[in-house]
Amino acid sequence: MPKSLISIKDFTKDEILHVLEVAKEFEAAREQNFLQGKVIACLFFEPSTRTRLSFEAAIDRLGAKVIGFADNKNTSQSKGETLEDTIKIISNYVDMIVMRHPMEGAAAIAASVSPVPVVNAGDGANQHPTQTLLDMYTILQTQGKLDDLTINMVGDLRYGRTVHSLSQAMSNFRSKFIFTAPEELKMPSKYLRQLDEKGIPYSETESLEEHLNDCDILYMTRVQQERFPSKEDYDRVKDTYELTASMLGGVKPNMKILHPLPRITEIATDVDSTPYAYYFQQAGNGMYVRMAVISYLLGYR
Ligand code: CP
Repeated sequence: MPKSLISIKDFTKDEILHVLEVAKEFEAAREQNFLQGKVIACLFFEPSTRTRLSFEAAIDRLGAKVIGFADNKNTSQSKGETLEDTIKIISNYVDMIVMRHPMEGAAAIAASVSPVPVVNAGDGANQHPTQTLLDMYTILQTQGKLDDLTINMVGDLRYGRTVHSLSQAMSNFRSKFIFTAPEELKMPSKYLRQLDEKGIPYSETESLEEHLNDCDILYMTRVQQERFPSKEDYDRVKDTYELTASMLGGVKPNMKILHPLPRITEIATDVDSTPYAYYFQQAGNGMYVRMAVISYLLGYR
């Protein structure tokens, strides 16, 4: 089986640092054409703006061609074809598969039957490893290091796959975490146990104000409406946090606010013009990091 990226744990610390270094090269020179003649499939079974389009732009800038779909209603899955069969067919046509799917574990299933590398572009509430790599790239870009930082993750830590992947990846470094969430949306114990095993310090709170002034990275997240069992459950917690510009008076000068986006109400638009907002630049970094992931998995960098 070729090397795939299904979970961020598929990459060692050295591989993560390598990909971040290559992404920096691509940021400095984004017109690369060394993948001419390659074809990459982008299969999105779930909505996406940033991930799909930054992957497609990355593929284009590397000189490869992209095929795929943004909505599986027009594929033979609507006739009952299984995911395994779909992947077995498409992998005949391409050199790599990028896939987003609402089911946890879908990317692993795809990789188990694919003779070409599979990149997980998000599987349910489980993992979003390329988002993690672009988050780390952005942390490094804004803080100049990945160690000795305080990272405050806020919002839906239960269903938010980006915080799951990011806590695992950052546990390779010596930073500490604050997990800010209401009781219903706390970080799952599975991820806390992994931090315990690595001796990474963390604390939990329900209060956004409590640690606002002592973090270096404020990682805001959307409450993931699509993962809740009912609308009533979602409505109960959807407006728990709203960060506004008026709350930022005492934050550290180096503090940056990240968010995987899309945002709903958890960051007011008046935050956008503060020097702390960095989520739009963060999304821009996605293309360079995805260029680096593709190049690495295809053996070119
Ligand atoms: N961050 C992220 O995954 O955004 P999209 O859902 O728009 O791809």
